[in-house]
Amino acid sequence: MNRTDAFVERAAKQAESPAENHAAPQQPEAAIGVALPHESAALHVSGEATYTDDIAELQGTLHAALGLSRHAHARIVSMDLDAVKKAPGVIAVLTAEDIPGENNCGPVLHDDPILAVNEVLYLGQPVFAVIAESHELARRAAALAKSDDVIRYEPLNAILTPADAKAAKQFVLPPLHLKRGDPDAKIAAAPNRIRGTFEVGGQEQFYLEGQVAYAVPKEMDGMLVYSSTQHPSEMQQVVAHMLDWPAHNVVCECRRMGGGFGGKESQSALFACVASLAAKLLRRPVKLRADRDDDFMITGKRHDAIYEYEAGFDDNGRILGARVEIALRAGYSADLSGAVATRAVCHFDNAYYLSDVDIVALCCKTNTQSNTAFRGFGGPQGALVMEVMLDSIARQLNHDPLDVRLANYYGIAERDTTPYGQRVEDNIIAALTDDLLDSSDYRARRAAIAEFNAKSPVLKRGLAFSPVKFGISFNVPFLNQAGALVHVYKDGSVLVNHGGTEMGQGLNTKVAQVVANEFGLPLSRVRVSATDTSKIANTSATAASTGSDLNGKAAEAAARTIRARLAELVAKQLGGNAGDVRFANGEVTVNGGAMPFDQLVGAAYLARVQLWSDGFYATPKVHWDAKTLTGHPFYYFAYGAAVSEVVIDTLTGEWKLLRADVLHDAGQSINPAIDLGQVEGGFIQGMGWLTTEELWWSRDGRLMTHAPSTYKIPAVNDTPAAFHVRLYQNPNAEPTVFRSKAVGEPPLLLPFSVFLAIRDAIAAAVPSAQHAPMLRAPATPEAILDALDALHAQSASEPASAQGTSKEATTSDTNA
Ligand code: MTE
Ligand code: HPA
Ligand code: MOS
Repeated sequence: MNRTDAFVERAAKQAESPAENHAAPQQPEAAIGVALPHESAALHVSGEATYTDDIAELQGTLHAALGLSRHAHARIVSMDLDAVKKAPGVIAVLTAEDIPGENNCGPVLHDDPILAVNEVLYLGQPVFAVIAESHELARRAAALAKSDDVIRYEPLNAILTPADAKAAKQFVLPPLHLKRGDPDAKIAAAPNRIRGTFEVGGQEQFYLEGQVAYAVPKEMDGMLVYSSTQHPSEMQQVVAHMLDWPAHNVVCECRRMGGGFGGKESQSALFACVASLAAKLLRRPVKLRADRDDDFMITGKRHDAIYEYEAGFDDNGRILGARVEIALRAGYSADLSGAVATRAVCHFDNAYYLSDVDIVALCCKTNTQSNTAFRGFGGPQGALVMEVMLDSIARQLNHDPLDVRLANYYGIAERDTTPYGQRVEDNIIAALTDDLLDSSDYRARRAAIAEFNAKSPVLKRGLAFSPVKFGISFNVPFLNQAGALVHVYKDGSVLVNHGGTEMGQGLNTKVAQVVANEFGLPLSRVRVSATDTSKIANTSATAASTGSDLNGKAAEAAARTIRARLAELVAKQLGGNAGDVRFANGEVTVNGGAMPFDQLVGAAYLARVQLWSDGFYATPKVHWDAKTLTGHPFYYFAYGAAVSEVVIDTLTGEWKLLRADVLHDAGQSINPAIDLGQVEGGFIQGMGWLTTEELWWSRDGRLMTHAPSTYKIPAVNDTPAAFHVRLYQNPNAEPTVFRSKAVGEPPLLLPFSVFLAIRDAIAAAVPSAQHAPMLRAPATPEAILDALDALHAQSASEPASAQGTSKEATTSDTNA
């Protein structure tokens, strides 16, 4: 037995017992609800998994690299690419003029040039493409873009921050505004008020595999594009438009990505386009793989945001009226910012009922990378400010922030409708919270931490609880559709193709489990093939956490069609009703008789029964009015909560997450091992966003943090020593595939509790301060020290007698 087989066997043995805290699957014989290893786990760890850059290169393959702009905003006065063309190994240098069709790779608006024309809108924007004999030679030649002799610019005024864009009223899309009730009057009449500002940074997706595409020209104006993308259909479409071809000339294939995290939902397009353009013009295969620094400089990230908020509340901290303005950095073009901003609006409420509320979201146009999807897709930016607000409210009232949160939870009757008009019908947050508070021992630890802090002058501990309610569905209703194709071959083996893409999240494993279950087969009899636009047409991006909801259902439908045909045949042969046929343990049984699945399939072939089928799924119930920002954008909600405990060093600003307790609702999990992995990964990734990952642009708009040397993502030693992650057993109220729930994005919001615990520790360091700490995110050591300084300054300037008497507080969480 080779190492790979041994690994799989061991993993399968470990997986035999369903994970703790998970109820027995509905059909005990099926592979549903079992903690099976990821379909490619052995390949991942042995290095055998084929990523786009690992595809064996065809003879004659050329390599592309991009020449990037040196200015954040400038007119291109002239280009003289002779020196680039003469550089060693260079075959061709391409500019926008070489594009036969549309010079655009934008997903929604047509404001994303593939190669810049006349003007550059951010520092790092691709202006030309070098095609050379090798990757290295292409990069060397492309680096000549740094020379003044190659491109002459006339610098123009650049807007580099969302604040400046807001002041200049520069937006990529019109502002979004959702208002319910009369928040101004409610805030004015409230017994207590709070007002403040806050800021949160952006986040680089930092997929381990960078952006890459490999384009292979085919006969009769055909193009096969291997792309590391979450959205093969869109890659097909933008490449076709760029070449002025019909879509059927282009095939896009993706076996897997080494992570996408939203960064390959739209922004894989530029790379797919440039590789395809060169392949078309030169009639040779062309590969474009961005090096890490270029990837950072070219592609968009999570939207950073600045906020202004105001709330009125009663003496229990219950919000009576609230107002927020969320100014997101969209960057130089619209990309997906409209949908991101919409999701930010729809997640401001998080888990809390807001009777009277006013939410504005701005898509600020800046001369920086065009920000895009990142796990949570604006949801985290919407909900974070609510949690900060509640924390400040609690501190003003001198209550435990937990109790203020509980007082604001969605409830029943009048308190169950979101600001956008959707009722919260599947609310389990209260029960989930009780479970977590019990298991994490929150109240007792709160007291123990106070005791510790009283005795510890330098190190201070902090504790915080935060909940998540996350709406599941694309917030653009038509995107909620998927297709699948299931083939049963004559020997009884099964091949599944679906429109989703595998990026490490385990989608293929879950879809294979669903199909194996339909046929009563072990997972080893089902293989999932690469995503391919010539198999499933017009797919949506694998995004919005809906991959398994959509493609699982489509594959289930396809398998059921085949199963029904087989059932009819076996009922004829063994007697009985087709409806009574059972598929389990590799056998088909009915009427007291049994037949091996493989034998039935062979018989079906000879009887000329169609052994393959397509399947389609469209999510029911969802609708949305983009004008009024109301409707039923989400099929259901996923819930979760976390309790985090940190310690900070008040002299250095260093901190450590000591313990995290997480309880997350993945519905009735199809695969608890994969879902736990998603919860753990999402938690740590969200923690990175809020603590160590800091994007920093120089005064001339150059992103200075463009490599792991300057941009700190969490590593294994940032995982808390005590990390208690559990799935909450809760079958979806809606009939999703096996009543599971989407789990990809919601856990990213769980580490709000880490940020809030740091705030708690800072507050503990200055017990005399009346106001909440003004901590910006990410809570780097500098930010923590700034917050401590501000709190000390505040407490020194306030007479002790004034403390606790103020009914109104103005806080600034921004230390800009
Ligand atoms: N997990 C891994 N390992 N790699 C990824 O790139 N992307 C996340 C999440 N989990 C991602 C991941 C994002 S942004 C989304 S939208 C979902 O996975 C997409 O996959 P799903 O819909 O199948 O859950
Ligand atoms: N998530 C991800 N991508 C999207 C969405 C969403 O909610 N809406 C439109 N594109
Ligand atoms: Mo995920 S941000 O919807 O790709």
